[in-house]
Amino acid sequence: MTIVDVSGIGKGAVFLIKGEANLLFEAGMAYAADAMSEAIKREIGDKKLDAVLLSHSHYDHVAGLAKVREIWPDVKVYASREAQEILRRPGALKTIRRLSGEASEAAGLSWNSEYDDRELQVDVGLEDGETVVIGDHRVYAFATVGHTRCSMSYIVDDEVMLCSETVGVLGPGDAYMPSFLVDYLGAEESIRRSSQFSVRTIILNHYGPVDEADRNGIWDILLKKLKDSREAMISIMERFPDDDEALREMERVFHSRVDKKDQPDEAFYINAASMMKTLRRQFPECFVRGYQLIAAVDRNWAIGNQGRMLAVIPADQKLFRQETMGKIIVMGRKTFLTFPGGRPLDGRHNVILTKKEDWGVKGAVVCHSVKETLKQIEALKKENNLKNSDVFIIGGESVYREFLPYCSVAHITFIDFSYAADTHMVNLEKEGWKVAETSDEQTFFDLCYEFRKYERS
Ligand SMILES: NC(=O)c1ccc[n+]([C@@H]2O[C@H](COP(=O)([O-])OP(=O)(O)OC[C@H]3O[C@@H](n4cnc5c(N)ncnc54)[C@H](OP(=O)(O)O)[C@@H]3O)[C@@H](O)[C@H]2O)c1
Repeated sequence: MTIVDVSGIGKGAVFLIKGEANLLFEAGMAYAADAMSEAIKREIGDKKLDAVLLSHSHYDHVAGLAKVREIWPDVKVYASREAQEILRRPGALKTIRRLSGEASEAAGLSWNSEYDDRELQVDVGLEDGETVVIGDHRVYAFATVGHTRCSMSYIVDDEVMLCSETVGVLGPGDAYMPSFLVDYLGAEESIRRSSQFSVRTIILNHYGPVDEADRNGIWDILLKKLKDSREAMISIMERFPDDDEALREMERVFHSRVDKKDQPDEAFYINAASMMKTLRRQFPECFVRGYQLIAAVDRNWAIGNQGRMLAVIPADQKLFRQETMGKIIVMGRKTFLTFPGGRPLDGRHNVILTKKEDWGVKGAVVCHSVKETLKQIEALKKENNLKNSDVFIIGGESVYREFLPYCSVAHITFIDFSYAADTHMVNLEKEGWKVAETSDEQTFFDLCYEFRKYERS
């Protein structure tokens, strides 16, 4: 079997698998269709093109089909059932037409818009794990959801793997384009799934064959690049809370070295915005900010001893009640046990963490992990029309520590005394938090204390 890059313009977009039957992997951009079909003709002469295997339904992979059908009318187009469905929708076909025109204009190349949309449709819709015989080739199709929900990779004759963009797109040097538009976790899973097949040749989408020397390590490389890109994107989203600014920074990091003919800026922005949405959906814990924390600490940031508070100060209790009334309060089971009568605090949405699966309290939401707690908080916020700043982390030590990354404000009653203690708050000053407001010095019998409001700097 011989594999030839027949992209026509640029490279890495369309591949011809030659044999008794000739298969095309992808059909490329509209503006490259003439050059691509010439490249195919040079390879197969007057033999026919038997089939096109599409990895998904995006315009830069399917638009060349119209030209292919014009020259080889008997060709059969294969893709996932989901892609087959999408390519029947008038809206999708209209988008393909619009983006094809825009890409041609950006590349300064002409394209033929006089085609019938039906020429872009899929003849055979494949299921995940289905094998089809095309002439002398056996083609195994497997779903690689991540870039799109309709993405599919193929293995031809147990020898060649034709990968969808879901597993990642490599560029010149060490350039890499993350491509998990709709499902980051699906992309990780797709890389793991692909790694389980042993094949002689791996063709990466928008790239080409993986060098023999890299073949064994390629899946680890792609998984690492995928994870690194996730971290980089999350970090950009944290540094640039405005989405437009975040997109511009992502363009600089990921797209500045890409040939704009292959992916115009507009297409990059659409993809990056989709990845941002996916990250927010699949990793909500990375984006939560703005909870408040409330604690009474001594000079050493101690908070408790032998399951009890260090001091009971009425003005501190009053402040706690005022601040938290009507809000969501989040606590560990041990702090809950210090409440009067072992009951949730009234007038507030009590959320209690425990690892005990069979432990419950009437009138409180019980959670078993930080992740579950974040989800339950989101649900409570929605139900009660509350904001992140209406979420109060009320202790004890372990819960303060675990939820500190999600807090932006801390109300600290600072008691000017050193107690014998076994539980402590994180020393916020060592963590770089800054005092935004301080009360006058207060006294309660011989105790001196003040109310401080800290903000994350
Ligand atoms: N000064 C103050 O403002 C203040 C405020 C609150 C509390 N306190 C004091 O702090 C002390 C209690 O603190 P503490 O750290 O010992 O206990 P805590 O944080 O109140 O509760 C710890 C318990 O919470 C559960 N938990 C914590 N993280 C979890 C997670 N990620 N997943 C599932 N469960 C989780 C576990 O319950 P299970 O053991 O059931 O699994 C854990 O044993 C007491 O002395 C209390 O008086 C002081």
